[in-house]
Amino acid sequence: MAKRVAILISGGGSNMEALVRAMQQKDYPARPVLVLANTPEAAGLARARRLGVAMAVVDHRDFSGARHAFEAALEAALQTAAPDILCLAGFMRILTPAFTARWQGRVLNIHPSLLPRYQGLNTHARALAAGDTEAGCTVHQVTAALDDGPILGQARVPILPGDNAETLAARVLEQEHRLYPAVLGRFAQGDRRPVFLP
Ligand code: GRF
Repeated sequence: MAKRVAILISGGGSNMEALVRAMQQKDYPARPVLVLANTPEAAGLARARRLGVAMAVVDHRDFSGARHAFEAALEAALQTAAPDILCLAGFMRILTPAFTARWQGRVLNIHPSLLPRYQGLNTHARALAAGDTEAGCTVHQVTAALDDGPILGQARVPILPGDNAETLAARVLEQEHRLYPAVLGRFAQGDRRPVFLP
């Protein structure tokens, strides 16, 4: 039975689209049941509409910092879709330990660095500033600690002479779109072996 997947977004939704397109393939072990955005301005909502996936918006600004109330509204929206798995895809809100505990083992996130290096924001600028010769992305299970859960997959890219944060981000994003569907497909079958893409 295909696992039911809700995808949480805040922005453009290109990772969401990569996941949905993978789930629309025959025999893929998961299917999208909801795209949930924390802002009505998320451009990914238009992508979700074009892809024919149900959408919901729970605007975090309606809860003026009351994280638990925001998360209760998130879970009310999720309840209808009854997902087995949550995929955070450019979702820019930090979830409380209470939420991650309730969803323990069922939430994935993609992060644009080779964790454990560069948890948090501005990962590409930090890799460039450090003089790294490679960068990449990581899919991990979401736990109470930010960008710190068990790693489920990674993909690497070279850092090239002349790269800036934008050119590097674009190169990494291409790999994100390969990695996330590969990891979700394995995760949905109960296989926790990490995926390392060449
Ligand atoms: C990606 O780089 C992802 O790694 C980071 O935010 C970006 C989301 O892009 N969390 P998109 O919204 O999936 O296009």
